[in-house]
Amino acid sequence: MSDVTLTKLQKMKQSGEKIVMLTSYDATFADAASRVGVEVLLIGDSLGMVLQGNDSTLPVTIEDMVYHTACVKRGNKGALIVADLPFMSAASLEQTLEHSAKLMRAGAHMIKIEGEAWLTDSVKRLAQLGVPVCVHLGLTPQLVNVFGGYKVQGRGEGPAQKLFDDCIAIAQAGAAMLLLECVPSELATRISQAVSVPVIGIGAGPNTDGQVLVLHDMLGMSLTGRTAKFVRNFMQDNTSIDGALKCYVNAVKDGSFPASEHEFSA
Ligand code: KIV
Repeated sequence: MSDVTLTKLQKMKQSGEKIVMLTSYDATFADAASRVGVEVLLIGDSLGMVLQGNDSTLPVTIEDMVYHTACVKRGNKGALIVADLPFMSAASLEQTLEHSAKLMRAGAHMIKIEGEAWLTDSVKRLAQLGVPVCVHLGLTPQLVNVFGGYKVQGRGEGPAQKLFDDCIAIAQAGAAMLLLECVPSELATRISQAVSVPVIGIGAGPNTDGQVLVLHDMLGMSLTGRTAKFVRNFMQDNTSIDGALKCYVNAVKDGSFPASEHEFSA
């Protein structure tokens, strides 16, 4: 068990203290991030892009995720570890259970699945079996070919209501956390207020219960030279990686990140 528990995250939501999440893929950065106060380390399948150099997360396998989860576990100093189920690894309930077990055995305390309300049965079964689940909604990068690019989701009345209803259904099914990517701030605020579990945002405005960024993005490193609107480069005002990590933690805690320039409107 980690020092940061689900109960602690729940209390943070209730008290209004922001939760800091950051992606992590290896032992050294897991050590550095958890030491400076990052509460949740996410082994994101973004590793397919930032570590492997692919142009999407689709090539990432469950074996890749197990390997990096084990690396992060070895460096972690008390953070809660969340690991992604990669593309097509949750295509059936059996697969979902088998692959979640692999990630939990490798060191995850929670698994993350991209999806919508159709995930309710999986969320229920995993929770019954002792696997806390974070469901990633909004812009789910594994659906990039369906979306036709990395686009803001939940804009307009119909899509906003559908995303809201999906979040309620997933929370009622027993999810331990929601993660919203690239959704209008106003919608993310409404969802965060409506569910009792912590909601973490990336490109979802300042009113979610916590924030997450991809490690390489917040260190100002990009293979493509492009930076998403919701990213802040924390190396800009820092001369060390430790300094940038601390600055990220402080900025999330004091609400100065995300700022208005990182938000999406409805
Ligand atoms: O894979 C990942 O790093 C993620 C974050 C972008 C939230 O899912």
